[in-house]
Parts: sequence; structure tokens; C-alpha cells
Amino acid sequence: MLRIRKITELAHHYLRLNVKEGDRVIDATAGNGFDTLFLAGLVGKSGHVYAFDIQSEALAITQHKLTENGIGDRVTLIYDGHEKLDLYIKDQVAAVIYNLGFLPGGERDKTTKSETTLNSLGKALPLLKNGGLAALVLYPGHGEGKTEKDHLLNYCHKLLPREYSVLHLCLINQPNEPPELLVIQRNLFGMTGDA
Ligand SMILES: C[S@@+](CC[C@H](N)C(=O)[O-])C[C@H]1O[C@@H](n2cnc3c(N)ncnc32)[C@H](O)[C@@H]1O
Repeated sequence: MLRIRKITELAHHYLRLNVKEGDRVIDATAGNGFDTLFLAGLVGKSGHVYAFDIQSEALAITQHKLTENGIGDRVTLIYDGHEKLDLYIKDQVAAVIYNLGFLPGGERDKTTKSETTLNSLGKALPLLKNGGLAALVLYPGHGEGKTEKDHLLNYCHKLLPREYSVLHLCLINQPNEPPELLVIQRNLFGMTGDA
């Protein structure tokens, strides 16, 4: 059962529909490795995941999870900011996930920031293959997260509709500004005129 109040489950739901065995994908914020592990399962033995984080502790946790599951070989862990993803990835990808904010239980000042997130997204979107998805989990419940959400929505409103379609999902009856989801799809070539 899909629990719609679990925004990361919703993000995974959309990714599951679009990512297949053999695909290349990006986890822009590895953190505790849950999304990396999930993506590594989707792309299978013949696919590949590129996972970024600016905290070595996060990458160590992620590496441990992958090793435990025997699937470390299909993931490249990158100790660098996702805003530099163009230095590491040249090929087209089926999907990218940004699970924004800070590492749960970690230092709050190591949170993602609007400027670098937008910079990174601007580099990731052109790498998406036709029909590819960018999923962004937003956390407007904390100060930087609210600013980041506002900037991202502003950015997405300006994406050309013939190139991208953007879905914004939010829970409207929950307290304390719960997480939200943005799903951006690179439009299928030749199918932009569909109703
Ligand atoms: C909410 S956590 C990610 C959760 C993770 N995807 C998971 O499955 O556990 C956000 C992560 O983004 C990382 N981060 C912050 N700024 C970053 C940047 N510029 N590039 C890459 N990672 C960044 C933080 O270090 C933190 O580990």
C-alpha cells in the first residue's frame, strides 16, 4: 500500500514507474542511503547509480548499506556537491532524486541550499532522457527549506511547457508544513501536444 503522507514513498512510486533495469540514475543527496539503495535495486546489475553527498559520514553510511545488500558495485559514491555533477556525469540518465534538507540526526547547517540546488537542477535536467524524471522532496518546515521551496517553485514555473511538465504534490490537511514533492518530467519528444 502506498502511504501518501510518506512523501519519499510517493517519490519512489514515480521513480519505480519510470526507471528500468539497465538505466543510469542520480541520487543528488545520498544521506543515509535509503534512496541510493532503492535506485540501485531498480537499475539492477546492468544499470548504474551516481550518488553525491558533501558529508563523508553520509557516504560511509550509504556504502555500508550497499555492501550489506551486496550491490555496491552498481553505485559510484561521489564526495562532492551535486552542483558539480556535470564534472562526473556526461551520459543521459533516466532519473534524478533530490531528497533535500539535512541528514536526519546530523548537523543542521549541512543542509542543502537554494543556490546550489538550483545550480545542480539546471545541470541535471538537460541530462534527462526523453520521459526522464527529476523528483525533489522539499522540507518547508525549516527556514532554509522554506526558502529553497520558494526558489524551486519559482524556477519550475518558468520551465518551458514544451520541454518539461511539472507536478507539485503537497498534503493540505497536515500540521507543521509537511514535506512536499516536485516531479519534473522531460517531455517525450513528439508528444508535447497531447491533451
Ligand atoms: C535529507 S538528507 C538525504 C536523505 C537520503 N537521500 C536518504 O535516503 O537517507 C540530505 C543530504 O544532502 C546532503 N547535501 C547537502 N548539500 C549538498 C550538496 N550541495 N550536494 C550533495 N549533497 C548535499 C546532506 O549532507 C545530507 O546528507
